[in-house]
Amino acid sequence: MDRRVIAIDGPSGAGKSSVSKRVGKELGFLHVDSGALYRIMTWQCLVRGVDTSNPAAVAACAAAVEVECRPENGAIAYYVGGEPPGDRIRTPEINAHASPVATVKEVRDRITSILRGMTQYGDLVVEGRDITTAVFPDSPARFYLTASAEARAARRQKEEVEKGIANQSAEAVKASLLARDAIDSTRKHAPLRKADGALEIDSTDLTLDQVVETVLNALPDGWR
Ligand code: DC
Repeated sequence: MDRRVIAIDGPSGAGKSSVSKRVGKELGFLHVDSGALYRIMTWQCLVRGVDTSNPAAVAACAAAVEVECRPENGAIAYYVGGEPPGDRIRTPEINAHASPVATVKEVRDRITSILRGMTQYGDLVVEGRDITTAVFPDSPARFYLTASAEARAARRQKEEVEKGIANQSAEAVKASLLARDAIDSTRKHAPLRKADGALEIDSTDLTLDQVVETVLNALPDGWR
């Protein structure tokens, strides 16, 4: 059966998660956080003492990680060793190591195939960096969400403080975010870029409601 897939890419802090969750809820599509899979692979590399700057070691580690995917409460939930990873994959340390891990082709290939397999569970809203360009490039509903670096850093910092994950300065958050953007958009395999035909939405001066409405209004006929 042909599933409908809404694909949303963009840099960190552009608002992809909030927007994708809301759009999914509105339409009854499952929300898929693809970045969490890269974070899980990164977390497992660190737990197992793997040097994340060594692509062969990262590839071998990622191949051994078993991630269980289950549709739960409107989203695809992940379990590793029977447990949800929770905020263990949201720390500044994981932030710093996730981009190098995401440059490794074997890791990308494995995650791409996991993501494509999720259509078995239903219609999807998938957010990430290469969803519109590499994972679901044929989707008729593709979006590129951006915002200024300042707005993105401010959102991420607020989120870290609210969740009690870290208490970094806005400057430190911005520096880490720009460093990740640089690696994500210049890597060899499936770099972050706006896909031809994707609708670009700059959320710097828009409310969440406005961005969600823009996405919903741009969907193919009959999807709402
Ligand atoms: O969206 P996020 O910050 O949770 O993503 C974590 C890392 O994973 C980020 O450095 C980029 C990478 N990523 C990717 O390369 N491709 C995706 N589809 C999603 C995330």
